[in-house]
Amino acid sequence: MSQEATREIPLSRPWLDEREEELVLEVLRSGRLSLGPWIDRFEEQVAERVGAPYAVALSSGTAGLHLLCKIAELGPGDEVITSPLSFVASANCFVLEGATPVFADVDPVTLNMDPGAVEAAVTEKTRAIVAVDMFGYPCELDELRAIANRHGLVLIEDACESLGAEYRGKPLGAHGTSAVFAFYPNKQMATGEGGVVTTHSEEEWGLLRSLRNQGRTYDGIGWFHHVRLGMNYRWTDVQAAIGLAQLEKLDRILELRGDAARRYAELLRDVEGAEAPAADDEDHRRSWFVYVAKLDAGIDRDRVMAALRAEGVATAEYVPCIHLQPYMRERFGFAEGLCPVAEDTARRTVALPFYTQIDPGDQERVVEVLANALG
Ligand SMILES: Cc1ncc(COP(=O)(O)O)c(C=O)c1O
Repeated sequence: MSQEATREIPLSRPWLDEREEELVLEVLRSGRLSLGPWIDRFEEQVAERVGAPYAVALSSGTAGLHLLCKIAELGPGDEVITSPLSFVASANCFVLEGATPVFADVDPVTLNMDPGAVEAAVTEKTRAIVAVDMFGYPCELDELRAIANRHGLVLIEDACESLGAEYRGKPLGAHGTSAVFAFYPNKQMATGEGGVVTTHSEEEWGLLRSLRNQGRTYDGIGWFHHVRLGMNYRWTDVQAAIGLAQLEKLDRILELRGDAARRYAELLRDVEGAEAPAADDEDHRRSWFVYVAKLDAGIDRDRVMAALRAEGVATAEYVPCIHLQPYMRERFGFAEGLCPVAEDTARRTVALPFYTQIDPGDQERVVEVLANALG
């Protein structure tokens, strides 16, 4: 086997260059590593980018979701509806507060919660919906909001995978619902760790700023003056500097990822047994996060993934259902059969290497290896 053929193609890789280095160096030289002006600057710019009046940057996307659940006062006895086909944080954010997860099955094409399933899951104990924009594809926000309004529920948008996506012609974050975005290195925009909540409520903005900083106020009364029970969910200025550099090139990042996704879709067109992710339509414009192909029913996914790895092509199961995670089964008694569409999808999906600067030749190699494994 040639060296070229065995070179590892990673699953993801952030796009960092001299600009990130330059801004990080400025922060280091300023001596102000936390609670500094870089975070304020980042918040202003990201709010403007998504079309929300306020933004609060935090240590992670999970932290942002958790604080929104705290502000909604979710707790024991409350039920919260979310997607079974998501990252665990979509449910953990309210399970941490003692609320009970209720999973509404997903649409087989968009992989986002089916509004009909959400409506059917509402009971007199339901207090909130955590809507997820999975794999960068916008969820049915208007329908979910109508359900939330009809039943007096809080709606929280987990847009951690979807910075830059658009729903009905407007960016996620601009629709009035509080939304959370995240910046782990596999995300469109990477800062190492980090997240941001965008909100349209000045009151919520103030609460988020206080809660992320140990319940402090920002009115200058004093560092050891705490008006509420808070957390340390602060971000750092070093991360904000990376974030500012990433924001500068976000349009280019989204464009390059869109190009890479189109290339995969074209290459996969000739491959029997693997289906490309849902295409955009008038209402939904995806921001490409990962590239997850769905294998035909009956194909041995383990064998396909082993064949990819044997040829140096990184791959992963994206994503196992939340309700079938060991701690969820133990605590709530969830089992197979609860959400058949999500479960079937989770058994058949494989993530292919996907990142902003992926080499088109590497994409060809990935699909060639995949086609051989399926053939
Ligand atoms: C759908 C979803 N929700 C929440 C999170 C949590 O974000 P973080 O890892 O920044 O806590 C992620 C990140 O992987 C995610 O994909």
